[in-house]
Amino acid sequence: MILLFSTAFSVFLTRLLVDEINEPVSVLLSHMKRAENEMYELIAHNVYTDEFAYLLRGFNHMIDAVHRRDRTNKELLNSFITVLTAALDARDPYTAGHSLRVARYALAIGKQLSLPNEQLDALYRSALLHDIGKIGVPDAILLKEGKLSDDEFAWIKKHPALGEAILREVRPIEPIEPLLAGIRSHHERMDGKGYPDGLAGDDIPLFGKIIAVADAFDAMTSDRPYRKGMDIRQAADILRKGKGTQWDGELVDLFLKHLQEERLLSTSAAS
Ligand SMILES: [Fe+2]
Repeated sequence: MILLFSTAFSVFLTRLLVDEINEPVSVLLSHMKRAENEMYELIAHNVYTDEFAYLLRGFNHMIDAVHRRDRTNKELLNSFITVLTAALDARDPYTAGHSLRVARYALAIGKQLSLPNEQLDALYRSALLHDIGKIGVPDAILLKEGKLSDDEFAWIKKHPALGEAILREVRPIEPIEPLLAGIRSHHERMDGKGYPDGLAGDDIPLFGKIIAVADAFDAMTSDRPYRKGMDIRQAADILRKGKGTQWDGELVDLFLKHLQEERLLSTSAAS
């Protein structure tokens, strides 16, 4: 009887011990698996024995370091984009603020489309950098007031592909890659008469189509030294007339809806 009892008790103890080891090991393994998929989560380790608490504390230190590195990388990327945008604005003081306004309008359209946050971030950054290729256009052409010759306009037409080529040099490329298609295609038109690739309709990347609407609206409504910015209603009218030929009709409608929601455009003018 005593033998039976002590055997049962030792099986019970062994079971307890195995469970005590198994649980933290499986918690650690599942967190390591999640970390492999870039989900870096801390483990609540105060419920385990000393040895495991020590091991899990080590894991948590590593996760903390990854979070710190991610924050630093994000800040570096944001300041890199801000510096590039500021450098472009400094070249052409008359269009200063254009990149930021286009980014805000593009973001508003992206929100109307209910894009996920990660895509909204990429859209905002693409729009901030959409004209970065103008850095490579000579001053005499970029800052010229009045009509451009065909040769001069050919220079201007290089800026979307130039912007893509400049940013393609960034290392690591991963955070920049999602911005490239929109930057290259922001002067394409729905009817295929845009540049640099003459893409039409749905062949134009979404970010390019969004930035095209935002860019045109800001270009029309901003003041220039040689002309006053257009009235919002008039600009909205031009966007509406260009639906399907110059701009994506659905995106124009969403942008006009946004202006209406912000009370920048009356309901009757938006329809
Ligand atoms: Fe542009």
